[in-house]
Amino acid sequence: MSTIRVQGVNKVFGDNPRRALPLIEQGLTRDEIQERTGLVVGVRDATFEVTDGEFFVVMGLSGSGKSTLVRMFNRLIEPTSGTIEIDGVDITRLSDRELRGLRSTKVSMVFQRFALFPHQTVLDNTAFGLEVQGLDRKERHRRANEALEMVGLGNWGDRYPSELSGGMQQRVGLARALATDADILLMDEAFSALDPLIRREMQDHLLQLQEELQKTVVFITHDLNEAMRLGDRIAVMKDGAIVQIGTSEEILTKPATDYVAAFTQDVDPNRVLTASSIMRDAAGTVSPEVGPRVAMARLKELQRNEVYAVRPDRTLTGYVRDTDLSEAARRGEQTLTSALRTDYPVATPDTYISDLYALSVEHSLPIAVVDERGRLVGVVPRVSLLTALAAISARAENVNGTNGTNGASDENAGDEGAGDSEGGGGDAGGSAAGPTAGLAAVKGAASA
Ligand SMILES: Nc1ncnc2c1ncn2[C@@H]1O[C@H](COP(=O)(O)OP(=O)(O)OP(=O)(O)O)[C@@H](O)[C@H]1O
Ligand SMILES: [Mg+2]
Repeated sequence: MSTIRVQGVNKVFGDNPRRALPLIEQGLTRDEIQERTGLVVGVRDATFEVTDGEFFVVMGLSGSGKSTLVRMFNRLIEPTSGTIEIDGVDITRLSDRELRGLRSTKVSMVFQRFALFPHQTVLDNTAFGLEVQGLDRKERHRRANEALEMVGLGNWGDRYPSELSGGMQQRVGLARALATDADILLMDEAFSALDPLIRREMQDHLLQLQEELQKTVVFITHDLNEAMRLGDRIAVMKDGAIVQIGTSEEILTKPATDYVAAFTQDVDPNRVLTASSIMRDAAGTVSPEVGPRVAMARLKELQRNEVYAVRPDRTLTGYVRDTDLSEAARRGEQTLTSALRTDYPVATPDTYISDLYALSVEHSLPIAVVDERGRLVGVVPRVSLLTALAAISARAENVNGTNGTNGASDENAGDEGAGDSEGGGGDAGGSAAGPTAGLAAVKGAASA
């Protein structure tokens, strides 16, 4: 597994690029530097770390430096200054031979447009890249088949790319990267050319794979919704600089600059914020092993009518209600069995806020948040949900108040971007337009 540590990295395009470094240090803008020197600052002063197994998303408008940044991680682009360490090794100092080793075993890349060879089978396309590793044909095909299985194309190995849909071709691109078994996956707008439904399917698939494989992924996208869906953390770039790095919740609720705020204005927080961000400690619970009278005393102490029953290992078994308890006590029962109810509202830490509303309307209990092993990790009382709602509405008003023109003016800035053969440069611009309708619906719900 692998970490990437980026320190003081700059990339300047043009003749004698180091001329620009003092100007970057003086804080001149990209435009000013270009005016004075004719040099283009692709990336400026990048310092950050991608941790082992992290899904790290880089986003920003066209020309903001995303591809330049990521291509330095396998040195398709050479940094002008700074260091990039992968597992403690400064890759800016690797020899050509070491660099080939890095690209064939450690870092693999998925491009926006499939880059498949039309006259080779899907299997051979997938196995491309394994030859460099010195594996024999049989082993190459075994690995390629395995990778095709992973992306759901196990039966397509002997077909040709032209027989596959765009989404399937993109899967082959992903399989090719997986086949090398590299720890680090660089994905440059890998899904941007796909239509929205297929794209979402690919996102789900990738998330699923990532759960098993735990690669270190650096994923570039224009699309904030995609970024927020996929990323453990997101880096937002502008004019070559990283203006903020944070979780999607941080980016959304504490944007570092107006630019980031404008960027997020179209995102529906209900589809980004999850139960984990608003849940509270489930402090008041009762053991399912106690009798009705002890449970009643517990309710009294907590000043509630209902309480969740939780085993010592935090496994949630249900909840009890005061009226049922007093019935059971009156009948002389010694256990909670007859009083234990299981029709409680339940969610996981990843449940979106939008899905919590419905749950909370149907039940008076706070929503139980349980982990994959059925343990109670928190609760979402209705009041927390309403507070979140208020914050979201306030945010919506704020954002609508500020003008969001930052985006538009940059939209066409470096569209002629990195002119290498893989064609990762300017694309048709995956729009970040998000479903604001969701917000309006939620606002309506608030007043209801
Ligand atoms: N080979 C190059 N020569 C000169 N300038 C370049 C080169 N590659 C990139 N640039 C410039 O560097 C800046 C960043 O480009 P980059 O391709 O990294 O942007 P990006 O964020 O990936 O954009 P997009 O979303 O359009 O792919 C742009 O201004 C671009 O024009
Ligand atoms: Mg790019």
